Amino acid sequence: MKLKQQINNVIKEAFTKAGIEHEPMSVTEATKAEFGDFQFNGAMALAKPLGKNPRMIATEIIENLDLTGILEKAEIAGPGFINLWLNPSWLASQCESARKDSRLGVEKRETPVKVVVDYSGPNMAKQMHVGHLRSSIIGDTLANLLTYLGDDVIRQNHIGDWGTQFGMLIAYLEEIHEEGSVSLKDLEQFYKDAKGRFDEDEAFANKAREYVVKIQSGDTHCLALWQKFIDISLGHCEEVYEKLGVNLTREDVRAESFYNDYLHGVISDLDEKGLLTQSDGAQCVFLEGEEVPVIVQKGDGGYLYATTDLAALRYRAQTLGAQRISYVVDARQGEHFKQVFRVAKEAGFVPEDVKLEHIAFGTMMGQDGKPFKTREGGTVKLIELLDEAVAKAKETINDKENYSEGELERLAKIIGIGAVKYADLSINRESNYIFNWGKMLSFEGNTSLYMQYAYARIQSIFRKYDGPMEGDIIIGDALEHRLSTMLLRFEDVLDRAAVDAAPNQITTYLYELATLFMRFYEQNPILKEGVDDVTKMSRLLLADLTAKTIKQGLDILGIETVDKL
Ligand code: ARG
Repeated sequence: MKLKQQINNVIKEAFTKAGIEHEPMSVTEATKAEFGDFQFNGAMALAKPLGKNPRMIATEIIENLDLTGILEKAEIAGPGFINLWLNPSWLASQCESARKDSRLGVEKRETPVKVVVDYSGPNMAKQMHVGHLRSSIIGDTLANLLTYLGDDVIRQNHIGDWGTQFGMLIAYLEEIHEEGSVSLKDLEQFYKDAKGRFDEDEAFANKAREYVVKIQSGDTHCLALWQKFIDISLGHCEEVYEKLGVNLTREDVRAESFYNDYLHGVISDLDEKGLLTQSDGAQCVFLEGEEVPVIVQKGDGGYLYATTDLAALRYRAQTLGAQRISYVVDARQGEHFKQVFRVAKEAGFVPEDVKLEHIAFGTMMGQDGKPFKTREGGTVKLIELLDEAVAKAKETINDKENYSEGELERLAKIIGIGAVKYADLSINRESNYIFNWGKMLSFEGNTSLYMQYAYARIQSIFRKYDGPMEGDIIIGDALEHRLSTMLLRFEDVLDRAAVDAAPNQITTYLYELATLFMRFYEQNPILKEGVDDVTKMSRLLLADLTAKTIKQGLDILGIETVDKL
């Protein structure tokens, strides 16, 4: 349910009745419990246009406010704020309908937006690193969220599979293959070895250069080698996706090489539009107000990362018909995206009304506050990092003897992977983020374990009670009032998080919800002796809706729940 919108509608009605012709601003959540549930702060802004004092305007609004439905009470505070209280029986009935609805009352958009979410984008020549981990986790959440809200989401994995380094890599692949020892397990090492050969052996270097040209001109032998290299390399990434529970498949791969045939057209179109300038032999686009041009073709005819992105932008807008294109990429590429977005619009590759956004995220740091590396300073292998998360998660499980080995594995995986994802998603994505095992695997604070525990705790209630779920929610005290209001805010939170591409808004909400539930549960026992049946049922219904909301929220974040923890 769009809670705010419903309240806004009541305010709008009051405006009409009071003869105020302005559009009311939206209500906001009350900052303190004594200010009610929501606040309307729009009276102040109307003082000037209406030529009245804000308290008088607020009084007029309140006099015309319908207090028989959603709202129960309204009060003026300070210079003209209006504090609003929701009607408990309305809250109760709305929570009941949400509980019975498989979408928990969250509406699907009537007009879906076609959104391309570009995320993960590992480079095939190298090991996937922590930057790609963040992109995969945040991007997947954004794609899940938009899908859940009803958008038409196209996931695009813009893998780096093209460029001069592949000549060297496939020449080396061919060489060691002849020796019969193909080992591509460790791409980092493979790259180093190939580079070593390239630097030391002139004949090898020449062959590598020759192979670059050959791949680009479609030589079947070289293309087959290249394809083999990409297959193995992508296979490593897929292992990570699989472990991580990220919804990316081969179908979502739209690699850099895919755009190769379009690059020439990009240049000629830019030229036709009069956007190209030759500078030091290179083809450049100079943008107004920018000192550094966007280079789209080098002097030797080679294309660049930006050229491919321009081709991709055009393909996404024109062929895929995207209305919103979201790039979940490291903040350090901010300048790149700012420039290619501008060029794409100026060149008419992307219609003006298509929303282009760089969903930037900060760097993952180690405990020492420096970019996350292995102790030796190398790239952290993601598979190993995830395995470590699972191993560490296993240590947090008490009473191991109660589980079979298989159950234990499954549980450790759900906890460990959940912890890695939640830790990443729960911070403001643009901040750098300090990777900390202890914090992420804690039962306390805003962590996935806390959320999974809250969920399991509610499930344990339902293991003890498995009778019919029939009856009414009765909002009896302030905590129940707050809990039900919080539950009904779910859609508003998801909507906002989708607009801002901010998964941490969801985690913050889930954390508040779970904390509130825990407090509610401590104060309002459910199955304890002496609780009458009507009260018991009401509390069971609220507990059930809370569990369902937590599960749905975590599901969007790509985090699993378990019934027993
Ligand atoms: N491969 C790039 C990198 O590792 C990320 C690709 C992001 N997507 C894009 N369309 N440029 O930095």
